This record gives sequence, C-alpha cells and structure tokens, in this order.
Amino acid sequence: MKYLKMERDGEVVQITIDREDKLNAMSLDVMNEFITVLEELEKDSSKVIIITGEGKKAFSAGADIEYMSKIGPTDAEKYALRGHEVLNKIEKIGKPVIAAINGYALGGGCELALSCDIRFASANAQLGQPEVTLGICPGWGGTQRLLRIVGPARAKDLIFSGRRIGAEEAVSMGLVNKVFPPETLISETRSYAREVAKNSNFAVGISKMLVNKGMDASLETGLKLEIYSWALCFSTKEREERMASFLKRK
Ligand code: CAA
Repeated sequence: MKYLKMERDGEVVQITIDREDKLNAMSLDVMNEFITVLEELEKDSSKVIIITGEGKKAFSAGADIEYMSKIGPTDAEKYALRGHEVLNKIEKIGKPVIAAINGYALGGGCELALSCDIRFASANAQLGQPEVTLGICPGWGGTQRLLRIVGPARAKDLIFSGRRIGAEEAVSMGLVNKVFPPETLISETRSYAREVAKNSNFAVGISKMLVNKGMDASLETGLKLEIYSWALCFSTKEREERMASFLKRK
C-alpha cells in the first residue's frame, strides 16, 4: 500500500489516506488501494472501521483535479465507476464505518464521508461539494447520498453554491454526528468505535443493513425486513450467550 495506512487496535481498524502533500486527494491509485483494503476487511474479524486523512489539514480534498484536467468522458466514466465501487463497498460492508473528518472534506472527500455510517468532525473541519466551481456535478454519489442525509433543499444549496461549511453548521443539518477538538478527534473516535465493537457484530451489521435498506424502501417493506432480520438474530449462539449473561448478571 502506497497511499493507505492500516492500523489495527484490537477489533477496530483505522484506514488513513496518506497523501498529505495533495491534501489526501483520491487518485485512481488511492481508489484501487481502497478496493483491496475493503475486500480484506469484508472477510476479517475486525468489527469497526475508521477512515481518516493524514495530517491536520485534510480528510480528503476530493477527486484528483490534476488527473481530471487531462481526461475525457470515457476515462471520467471509469473514474466515477471506481469511486462508486469504493463508496458502495463502504456502505454495504457488514460492519460500521466511521469517518473521522480531520479537516477539508470536499467533493469526493465529502462523498467518501457520506458513504460512512457515522461522521465525527474536528472543530476545524470544512465540508462541501465544490464540483460546480470546476464545471462538473458531484460524481461519487454526492447528489444522491447528500439528498438522503440532509434533504433536497440543503443538498441543493450546498451543491449549487459549492460553498464550504464548518463543522457546527454540518452538525446543525445532520451531516455530521458530533464535533471534537482537533487534538482529540481520533482518540474520541477510537473510544466510540471500541464501545460499538463490544456489541454483537451480527446484530450491529444487520441493523446497518436495515437502516440503509429502509432509506429506499416503503415503510411496510422496511418493517417486514426488520421482522425477519430480528427473527434471524435468534439463530445465533451469541444471542443466547448475551441474554443468558444478562440474566446471570447479579
Ligand atoms: N486534487 C489534486 N490536488 C489537490 C486537490 C485535489 N482535489 N486539492 C488540493 N490539491 C493539491 C494542490 O494542488 C497543492 O498541490 P501542490 O502543492 O503540488 O501545488 C496541494 O494539494 C495543497 O493545496 P493548496 O495549495 O490548494 O492548499 P490551500 O490550503 O491553499 O487550499 C483547499 C486548500 C481550499 C482545499 C484547496 O486545495 C482546494 O480548493 N482544493 C480543491 C477542492 C475541490 O475542489 N475538490 C473537489 C474535487 S472534484 C471531485 O471531487 C469530483 C467528484 O465528485 C468525485
């Protein structure tokens, strides 16, 4: 791996985009490395994934503008498809993924954070979808995931204006879950991740799937899916053990 660093802390894995000189902009090479890492994490015993960017300045400044300045529609389609492949993998992986937004999260960087389940940000973070300032629309899911997270009016405001918002405004619109001082962002994110990792990964994973599917399903379909998923939880040994241990707690 040249552009991604992986650190394991028990059942918590941290992926750091390591291209600080380019504000962690995500070239095709970065995206290819993401595919390799995510395919490994799909199979291993880790329970929670954290994604962040190297340095104090950027989570990721988005897709690589130098590369995009030289390509036409055919390569742009391939770049978009690869972006979607990575972000869909993050959304679908059966364990929680937390974005620790340590600075700029712009364009594809914001879209990467949108594909995560939880977003924590440092007080100096700035988020935005500045693609229109470059003559393109968001291309890695921004129009669709931002819409679902903050609603159409706010999504259109951010996309049409290309403006950058601070961490507090991002919290006020539900784009970020919580803000931390820059110096404690990673330790707080890791401590939250360790708390989540104490829970049943089967139950957490199935809950992630249910919330994600529920975004696009009718209430009736979502509720039916919940019933069968809930019943499926009763097939696990872990459920038996966790309930028995509750009853024996005194
Ligand atoms: N791609 C490639 N290189 C980038 C980059 C990007 N997205 N963002 C920053 N860089 C590079 C700069 O070119 C510069 O490199 P050099 O030192 O070699 O010149 C280095 O990172 C540092 O950047 P700046 O000098 O610009 O730093 P700054 O502090 O003055 O500004 C910034 C920071 C406001 C984030 C500014 O860099 C910026 O606006 N970056 C572009 C953000 C952007 O528009 N992102 C969206 C990209 S399009 C997209 O992502 C499409 C999509 O939907 C998938």
